[in-house]
Amino acid sequence: MCGIVGYTGFKEANTILIDGLKKLEYRGYDSAGIALQLEGKLKITKAAGSVADLESKMDEGDSEVKVGIGHTRWATHGRPTDENAHPHYSCCEKFAVIHNGIIENHQALRQWLKEETGHEFRSETDTEVLAHLVEEYYKDDLLEAVRNAVARVEGSYAMVVISSHEPERLVCARQDSPLIVGLGEDENFVASDIPALLAHTRKTKILEDGEFASITPEQVEIFDAEGKSIDKEVFEITWDIESAEKGGYEHFMLKEIMEQPAVAKETMRQRIDPANGRVKLDEINLTDEEIQTLDNIYIVACGTAYHAGLLGKAVLEDLAGIPVEVDVASEFRYRRPIFKENQLVIVISQSGETADTLAALRMARQKGVKVLAITNVVGSSVSREADEVLYTWAGPEIAVASTKAYLTQLVALYLVAIYFGELRGYLASEKADELVKGLKELPGQLEQVLSEESLAKLHKYCEHLSKWDNAFFVGRNLDYPVAREGALKLKEISYIHAEAYAAGELKHGPLALIVDGVPVVALITQKAVYDKTLSNIQEVNARGGAVFAITMEGNDDVAEQVESVFYLPPVNDVLAPVLAAVPTQLIAYYTALARGSSVDKPRNLAKSVTVE
Ligand code: AGP
Repeated sequence: MCGIVGYTGFKEANTILIDGLKKLEYRGYDSAGIALQLEGKLKITKAAGSVADLESKMDEGDSEVKVGIGHTRWATHGRPTDENAHPHYSCCEKFAVIHNGIIENHQALRQWLKEETGHEFRSETDTEVLAHLVEEYYKDDLLEAVRNAVARVEGSYAMVVISSHEPERLVCARQDSPLIVGLGEDENFVASDIPALLAHTRKTKILEDGEFASITPEQVEIFDAEGKSIDKEVFEITWDIESAEKGGYEHFMLKEIMEQPAVAKETMRQRIDPANGRVKLDEINLTDEEIQTLDNIYIVACGTAYHAGLLGKAVLEDLAGIPVEVDVASEFRYRRPIFKENQLVIVISQSGETADTLAALRMARQKGVKVLAITNVVGSSVSREADEVLYTWAGPEIAVASTKAYLTQLVALYLVAIYFGELRGYLASEKADELVKGLKELPGQLEQVLSEESLAKLHKYCEHLSKWDNAFFVGRNLDYPVAREGALKLKEISYIHAEAYAAGELKHGPLALIVDGVPVVALITQKAVYDKTLSNIQEVNARGGAVFAITMEGNDDVAEQVESVFYLPPVNDVLAPVLAAVPTQLIAYYTALARGSSVDKPRNLAKSVTVE
């Protein structure tokens, strides 16, 4: 995610801002910039690249400056370039804005600003519309101008604005993206994240959605959406730097698991038309005819992304009626797949830099087959070389074990399957409506699955599981890809030899390994194969296996037949894999914790496998 730092006081602003941005580097970014309040004018310096690159571009002479804002950008709209880096000027260059979040109606606002009010744009970002709106609405009060500007905005924002009209003032607004005010002595701060503040203050005021802040060296005022002043209590930060970077969680992996409700919502944002509830993938330029005449799809990926592809196959065939073949990229690129017309290759890659996946993409393109990339990194090799890109807006994923990126890959695949299915006339609109409604309910249901009670239950189970060196994950139908991914998660961070099997396959061999106490995690969420999976659970029980079942609320008969059961909130069977992924991620997390392995950086593994 992007990083925000702002300062107004009596010290050197550029040093405070650069140091603050460096404290936010762990969050991942691809460009950085600073706006300083010089005498009577603003000065913006920005760089595609690192904070060190930005620092090397800054003038020594600016060390006298006492007010400024800084930003590290994780690109969503617009490639990582100097022009697209924040801060952004307004036309008159008397206003500068930094912003985290997504302005959903930025195209409409940009058009109005250009055509109705003659504003000219310098970047391809959604953020820049904010700078021009503030200029448009400014009369004699920066806070009023910001309030009027955000009143036109749909989307998420944590924004900070400075103006040469009011040299000592920072004005902030927050909606769906964090913003924290740091309280000093004759100086005050603002940041998107606590680590940027800790060197200066532990006293903070945390903005809530819809709130604004007006900050000068002497005063911090907070206002509600109606402009009424709010007396906010001071929040004392007790975290050290390391725990602050993890949002107070012990590991990045747990932080990223807990971010899943929010990032699932981000990945759906702008892709479900609020007017009619239809899925709209404006960023995909495939023609209706290309989609309607698709004969088959290859999905190609590695590791966790491959497991997302397995689910992608099931939902694309079920909802869009398109035959899908899924392959690991390291196999696909060396076998001789049949390429022909009316085909699409979908590559899935969190990093967008996985060597095998990139090679498979290039092979398909050389054969003249269009490639759609589902990736999390704007400007990555995969995103630049694919014909079409659908971004998962999960934000930077720091832990080697992929969790939130995987979950948003599933969300993206559902959106594609519904979009294709409706375009092809294969998916009835009632069914599409039902699925879209279910997708919109997922963030709330994910919050339920991530309740304290759920975490405690799973933590307790993992104390037992951690004592074993082997484990099984089983499931049928849509539960099978979830089992595959669950086994990989457990394997890669707890080092337990976990294997996943289609539940119906146990009797064809693996059952020989089931003896007293062997842990088996059984996914049993799919009504169509519920009884079959239940009988597989009984097969395991009969040999003494210890089953931990993950099923839907209401399936009480399961509880009588297993050691322990984890209930998911009621959800459409098709969407159940999104919820079921979470307990399997937490099983891996808590088991690794109990076994003392390195959760965020497991042995032998890299976050992005850029070599063959
Ligand atoms: C996931 O937990 C693993 N770290 C690994 O399997 C990963 O999914 C795989 O290397 C693919 O990476 P990508 O999504 O960045 O291409």
